[in-house]
Amino acid sequence: MKKIVITFLVILTVTPLFGKAEEGMWPALFLGRKIAEMQKLGVKLGAEDIYSITNSSLKDAVVQFGSGCTGVLVSETGLLLTNHHCGFAYIQKQSSLEHDYLTHGFWARSVEEELPNPGLTVAFLVRMEDVTARVMEGVSPAVSEQDRNAGIKKNIEQIEKEAVKGTGFEAKVKPFYYGNQYFLYISEVFKDIRLVGAPPSDIGSFGGDTDNWAWPRHTGDFSVFRIYASKENKPAEYSKDNVPYKPKKYLSVSLKGVEKGDFTMVLGFPGTTREYLTSYGIDLIAYKENPLKVSFRQKRLDIIEAAMSADAQTRIQYASKRARIANGWKKMIGESRGITRLAAMENKHDQEKGFNAWAIADPEREKKYGLLFQTAQNIYQRMYPFDLAGIYITEGFQGIELLTFAGSFKDIIKQSSQKNVNQSDLIKLSEKLKAASHTFFKDYQQNTDKQVAYALLEKISKDMDPSFKPDYFIQVEKKVKGNWEEFVNGLFSASIFADSSRLFKILSEPGAKTIKKLGNDPAYLLAASASGIMDKKVSPLILECNRKIDSLQRIYTEGLMACQKDKTFYPDANSTFRIAYGKVDDYSPADGINYSYFTTTKGILQKENPDIYDYIVEPRLKTLITSKDFGQYADKDGTMHVAFTASNHTTGGNSGSPVLDGNGRLIGLNFDRNWEGTMSDLQYDPDQCRNIVLDIRYCLFIIDRFAGDQRLIDEMKLVKE
Ligand code: ARG
Ligand code: GLU
Repeated sequence: MKKIVITFLVILTVTPLFGKAEEGMWPALFLGRKIAEMQKLGVKLGAEDIYSITNSSLKDAVVQFGSGCTGVLVSETGLLLTNHHCGFAYIQKQSSLEHDYLTHGFWARSVEEELPNPGLTVAFLVRMEDVTARVMEGVSPAVSEQDRNAGIKKNIEQIEKEAVKGTGFEAKVKPFYYGNQYFLYISEVFKDIRLVGAPPSDIGSFGGDTDNWAWPRHTGDFSVFRIYASKENKPAEYSKDNVPYKPKKYLSVSLKGVEKGDFTMVLGFPGTTREYLTSYGIDLIAYKENPLKVSFRQKRLDIIEAAMSADAQTRIQYASKRARIANGWKKMIGESRGITRLAAMENKHDQEKGFNAWAIADPEREKKYGLLFQTAQNIYQRMYPFDLAGIYITEGFQGIELLTFAGSFKDIIKQSSQKNVNQSDLIKLSEKLKAASHTFFKDYQQNTDKQVAYALLEKISKDMDPSFKPDYFIQVEKKVKGNWEEFVNGLFSASIFADSSRLFKILSEPGAKTIKKLGNDPAYLLAASASGIMDKKVSPLILECNRKIDSLQRIYTEGLMACQKDKTFYPDANSTFRIAYGKVDDYSPADGINYSYFTTTKGILQKENPDIYDYIVEPRLKTLITSKDFGQYADKDGTMHVAFTASNHTTGGNSGSPVLDGNGRLIGLNFDRNWEGTMSDLQYDPDQCRNIVLDIRYCLFIIDRFAGDQRLIDEMKLVKE
């Protein structure tokens, strides 16, 4: 009887948490187990059509783009689509005052005009393989965690080396379920990737940060690249003799459009999720880390935004800095709100109760899992003050540009204080720093940074746990007695790092003595003191605790799988190739509000505001919209669709991911998530979590009608139904 009750309890409390139809980002080797369900939902393909190592399959048309995005092949000559925000840095690097491609867009009219991008790579998945047994070879379960990790590391190195011997491929073994399983990934990395096309930013980033993480959306978030290869169609460093790559597979592009309920599938390289954390982990992120980070960022954003709206130059200088600060800020606010709304803590508590009941019903299990949550609680408790202190340093001290800049001189200052200073090393380092300093001062407003410094130092002084305060800061605190404004004024007028001409003079004649003096600069001393606390006190303990948490998580996920043997658990995202499936779907963010699942160009004109940078509408786009010049890309009813929402489980790294219909045709490019659903990195809610997709027809419309780049349209395979 007891057993029945417990099983029932476990089913009741554990099952509902994982495994809703749309939840999960599946590794390719799991397709065999998932394909039947996918077919029920509408996919017309077999597992082998999506991932095969003998025949070409959909995975051969998808690449990891750079280190943090995804891209998709759409022609037999290596044409690739990704997001505008994924190509942004490269478009920016190609831009100058005379050729401002960010502002005006860029369209190569011939292969010769396509622009190389040093440093940009794309990686294809060649194959994946379960190597758990080999990774665990000779690693006894009885050994300490440390020995265990050392044994695993050695095996992994061996496996990676052997796997690619003589092939030119790259190999990486990745842990899954916190090390309950290991998969080997072999990839082919191409290094000559050229820019082919990009819309102007007022299309590619339309809505900017105001609309970021939000629905409804009207952003034409795409850019076009091409992969180049050697004459043998193999990866090669940039050379003008390279030729367009011939992919094993590229996608057909659908002109059909989508309707609510249609099957959708996202292939790509999602970065990080943490779906199996304990309640203690969720509590730390959602209720402790996020609010503290947000409060620091809020202060910076308030000051930066005021400065940007008061001064045109500041607006340009701080645009991308602000975007970076705001992207995380908004995500964290949404995530914590979503966790509360979803009652995620309560869900986790119930799940933990159910798990415990299952564990203690059997003596063996009790031995293994009985103390799990208690131990987790202890570790999180121990880590907590250190974790917060780390945030005071990274978001606080390091949120002050001057301090971070001064801190970047650590190496050269160290060099200069050595006994036998190597002059040529000094010159090399100072050349690098000179370049970095030019970049720094180009986008720097001292007044803005001063205000930030004033606000952040005051907050640190008031709120930071005194036992973690850096020594130098404590000395300063004693002297300034709360008058941070005065301190900041003094700091900025005394510091060489705040005076570009003095600094450049030193860097131009880098003598050991003068450089050594930089080590006594007050901005440097403050920065070094803060990073000293981080390196010596905070990071080591966090690292140690995280290792322990990882091994607890390994035991916990193993237990979860043991108590629900029939269920297939999806592993957390870890920047490897994944498949997410779901359907085109709308949602209701609040009582009384229903969002439509798609947007049209009508919304672009509604949002238009020539006074707000994010809502400036390109005049030529406006003409096309008002004259309804949509060509073959219009929807059945003659409107031009821009974006739609679907219920695919996605995360950062899925940007630029192809969104496919049931036939494997390209219907859109993933580019964001809705704000109400951003907690899906910790817990997914089918009711609220939506990925935001650029309708591929809007992308084609811009290429064809707006840019007139027929060459690219002709290259793609468009299908009507
Ligand atoms: N929120 C998206 C992501 O996490 C888009 C970021 C770029 N867009 C922007 N408006 N800042 O990457
Ligand atoms: N914008 C994100 C990216 O660049 C994708 C949105 C998400 O986090 O889901 O990867």
